[in-house]
Amino acid sequence: MIIIKSEREIKLIREACRLTALALDYVESLIKPGITTGELDRLTEEFIRKNNGLPAFKGYHGYPASICASVNDVVIHGIPGDLMLKEGDIIGVDLGVIYRGYYGDSARTFPVGEVSENAKRLMEITKRALMEGIKKAVPGNRVGDISNAVQTVAESAGYSVVREFVGHGVGKKLHEEPAIPNFGRPGIGPELKPNMTIAIEPMINEGDWHVKVLEDGWTVVTVDGSLSAHFEHTILITEEGNEILTL
Ligand code: MF3
Ligand code: CO
Repeated sequence: MIIIKSEREIKLIREACRLTALALDYVESLIKPGITTGELDRLTEEFIRKNNGLPAFKGYHGYPASICASVNDVVIHGIPGDLMLKEGDIIGVDLGVIYRGYYGDSARTFPVGEVSENAKRLMEITKRALMEGIKKAVPGNRVGDISNAVQTVAESAGYSVVREFVGHGVGKKLHEEPAIPNFGRPGIGPELKPNMTIAIEPMINEGDWHVKVLEDGWTVVTVDGSLSAHFEHTILITEEGNEILTL
């Protein structure tokens, strides 16, 4: 069932999303060669708690940290630890915040120092794919319209779209219906209606779309070792169109 949120719920989701975006701004300010992903995680958790939020990922199905830190060929769900960032890396940071029982969820991919033109282009296209998907997230459209817009941007640029992980509804739970794939036909799937809140999150690979999960049970990497980027926003569907809540 797709939940249509009440005005009260939207207020709380809005605040959770505001904290999520603030926490990502904070992470961005910390990223530089020499910092470890574990330090990023510890500092970000502290930041979220100071701002009256709870880190939504910590303990979620046993996930051990507050952020996902996915470096280079890691697509998503990289577990923070002793890995030290170095000039030229790209790092996808995904984080969620719970505020009075409601969730915000967002991800951005950041360059570490100066990065290759290839890496810059991959990040730009992934962000553009997200924004084109968001443009289609309006009342009367269907989930497939979002999916198709994301896929078209990514594939026209010569990249591939990860298939095994998708966007989702978000609200009282981190993952609600509907699932929002990053590939598919326009006009199919559930219809979008005002006061739905959804997370759109393209994961785009420079090479092939195939991914695998490492032995830690979380870390998702590209099978061909190619770079991958990830951007995610939580948005509210409105009467007029939509509003991005995690800007
Ligand atoms: N942002 C991720 C998503 O949208 C959540 C990470 S799962 C966790 O699915 F277990 F790490 F929390
Ligand atoms: Co998500």
